[in-house]
Amino acid sequence: MTVIFLYFYALKTQTNVHTMSKDSELTYYEAVRNAGFSRRDFLKFATVTAAFIGLPGTMLSQVVKALETKKRIPVIWEHFQECTGCSESFIRSDHPLPANLILDQISLDYTDTLMAASGHNAEAAKQQSMKENYGNYILIVEGAIPTKDDGVYCTIAGRTSIDILKESAAGALAIFAFGSCSAYGGIQAASPNPTGSVPIDQIITDKPIIKVPGCPPIAEVMTGVIVHYLTFGKLPELDSQGRPKVFYGKRIHDSCYRRPYFDAGLYAPAFDSQEAKDGHCLYKLGCRGPVTYNSCSTMEWNNGTSFPIKSGNPCIGCSEAGFWDNGPFVERLTNIPEFGVESTADTIGKIVLGTAVGAAAIHAVASNFGKKKELQESYCQGVKNEEQIVE
Ligand code: SF4
Ligand code: F3S
Repeated sequence: MTVIFLYFYALKTQTNVHTMSKDSELTYYEAVRNAGFSRRDFLKFATVTAAFIGLPGTMLSQVVKALETKKRIPVIWEHFQECTGCSESFIRSDHPLPANLILDQISLDYTDTLMAASGHNAEAAKQQSMKENYGNYILIVEGAIPTKDDGVYCTIAGRTSIDILKESAAGALAIFAFGSCSAYGGIQAASPNPTGSVPIDQIITDKPIIKVPGCPPIAEVMTGVIVHYLTFGKLPELDSQGRPKVFYGKRIHDSCYRRPYFDAGLYAPAFDSQEAKDGHCLYKLGCRGPVTYNSCSTMEWNNGTSFPIKSGNPCIGCSEAGFWDNGPFVERLTNIPEFGVESTADTIGKIVLGTAVGAAAIHAVASNFGKKKELQESYCQGVKNEEQIVE
């Protein structure tokens, strides 16, 4: 599937310079249908995405209407100091529509990793798109920015990533820091940080940056944010670190299916133990779930199939700042903050210990499991909605 997708994507980008203006006249729905997806596929995507961004079922028709009527938003995707794992993960998204929407139909006007064009042609496509869509394109940035020695440790066509980032950020409608490297510096910024790597918000300080951390991040977060913008004309609420609250508002620990074992004090003693297979908590094997804010345990990866803890590996906290310096990952955390599971990254430090933590825990765990159930039901509901929504 991925190979076929990349083949057609390569064909498209070979002629991208000439076709982008025409493509930009399409709505998302028209573009999706042109790409061969059925209305049923489209409605499934709309239903699941609405659930991802926390909208009630009654608002689904608003989401569908936005996707049917709004013109696509051009995307410029820059790659700097990174491993490209975030792109790799994104194009392997189990549901083909998110990748297709971003990489093809939303119009990826520039990405030096995937586009068939290279060199001057690729640069021309980017410059043309930035000029024609000044103030209206989405900039996605993957990778950190090295600053030591005037930024020479990441250059493209003789220009430093600092220069390129400043130029492409100038006309952006919104900027996504996609992945922990652009959001927090990632492994490049880990001690001893030989190239002086920094996250992009240390270079671009005059625009809001939506952080989508993770190593890699969950693909649907990006499509969710874009769909939210299309539907309501504004970005979703962000926390103090710039992360969309709806995806990063709770800890992995709050919805983890091994949580009852944690509460009961039942821990797996070793990775290959029977207890680990039986679902006992991985806390003593180094799990960072209690201090990590992400949606993995609610949404799970690959269409709700699994996530690291379900595969038997503790969460290593890959969506938190400086996580690479927080090892070794197989050693037990000694400082879990006991703020109660209702806490968010923004409320830590403000909550008084010992007040109804038990009740809050039960409520939070129940509500997060409720959201997960809602997501699972959404996959089925998308089909039923087809009959309810008038074309
Ligand atoms: Fe799950 Fe880790 Fe929390 Fe245990 S410590 S319940 S494995 S998130
Ligand atoms: Fe990362 Fe932990 Fe999720 S390691 S992928 S935040 S479960």
